[in-house]
Amino acid sequence: MKPDTDGSPIEDWREGGFGLYIHWPFCQSKCPYCDFNSHVSAKVDQDRWRAAYLKEIERVGAETSGRVLQTVFFGGGTPSLMAPELIDAILTMVRDAWPIANDVEITMEANPGSVEVGRFRGYRDAGVNRVSVGVQALNDADLKALGRLHSVEEAKAAVEIAQNTFDRVSFDLIYARQRQSLPEWRRELAEALALASGHLSLYQLTIEDGTAFGDRFRRGLLRGLPDEDLGADMYLATQEMTEAAGYSSYEVSNYAKIGQESRHNCIYWSAGDYVGIGPGAHGRITLGGIRKSSEAISNPIAWLAKVEAGEAAEQRQHLSQEEQGTEYLMMGLRRDLGIDLDRYERIAGGTIPQAALADLVDIGLIDARGRRLAATASGRLVLNSVIAKLMG
Ligand SMILES: C[S@@+](CC[C@H](N)C(=O)[O-])C[C@H]1O[C@@H](n2cnc3c(N)ncnc32)[C@H](O)[C@@H]1O
Ligand code: SF4
Repeated sequence: MKPDTDGSPIEDWREGGFGLYIHWPFCQSKCPYCDFNSHVSAKVDQDRWRAAYLKEIERVGAETSGRVLQTVFFGGGTPSLMAPELIDAILTMVRDAWPIANDVEITMEANPGSVEVGRFRGYRDAGVNRVSVGVQALNDADLKALGRLHSVEEAKAAVEIAQNTFDRVSFDLIYARQRQSLPEWRRELAEALALASGHLSLYQLTIEDGTAFGDRFRRGLLRGLPDEDLGADMYLATQEMTEAAGYSSYEVSNYAKIGQESRHNCIYWSAGDYVGIGPGAHGRITLGGIRKSSEAISNPIAWLAKVEAGEAAEQRQHLSQEEQGTEYLMMGLRRDLGIDLDRYERIAGGTIPQAALADLVDIGLIDARGRRLAATASGRLVLNSVIAKLMG
């Protein structure tokens, strides 16, 4: 592979693939745990948003024309609040902007409300072939505590209707919730595995600054959260039960049967290139052999105004080889496949400290197989400190 001017390998992104992320920043209400770029707005003019998305896709499409697009992901916020006609217009423009892979994966995050579910066929007809439903809990009291607007019954119905409509369906659950015991989580996970059809995202509740839960936590009012030991036991039980059901833990919080992995997320975790469009969206694009990060303005009104005015709605930054190496390590070790040391050295222009690596292997946190490194189940529990050690 030919190195570019500062030594980083040109076109390395091809090893990870090429995808498109579209961010829809609106929700019906704000969940108290959520720090995603999501806003509640009484009125959203979908025609204005359509024009802005189309303009951005055209602009970035011209920069990256000819690349085969492997995945599209509509995330949010709540993209299932987008009219099917808006999704259709975006996907039509996407097909004009890039050649599309025959097996393209087009995912949408969907909330289980009845209005959203009523739009499923429209999304499918527009080209969406994978849906990720935000179930979050299979317990009505906990759904209420999480600020969700749906019931367990509605969530299960949404998953079933999605399974009858789309080729591939996943759903999300949040565990390690207030007052949740290990046996309760095991029962809920068993129910989830019976309902699932090949993919699950299972997240431990994290308390984020700047959220309603974050504020309550700081004031000592968020009671009954599991301690670290119980959280770790819940994670290990999750690994054991998903594995027994034929799901592999292909990433820290993602579980899939063979072939059902989210290909879009795998592009992030394997240092591929992806375009990010919409308020707050992140991207990574290699242009002329130079890998850049992009970050769009997060405020929806400001983003829309900039795009409408034909001004830059995102900032781009050249990523140094060191930054790229760190990113590959941090993202790659989230996956069961881990990282390829030869690729790491090409990207980073340096090697991983051997003594630190040997220590981590000795204490069972890293599994070294030939030129591949992967975090073990115990290593994943303390992934941040494993990565810090490997970065020297
Ligand atoms: C972009 S969000 C939500 C998508 C969709 N609006 C919904 O709520 O279903 C993707 C997922 O992140 C998870 N999530 C968000 N905040 C979290 C937190 N603080 N702790 C754990 N999981 C979280 C939820 O499971 C959520 O479904
Ligand atoms: S969890 Fe989903 S529905 Fe709730 S505020 Fe965040 S993005 Fe919106």
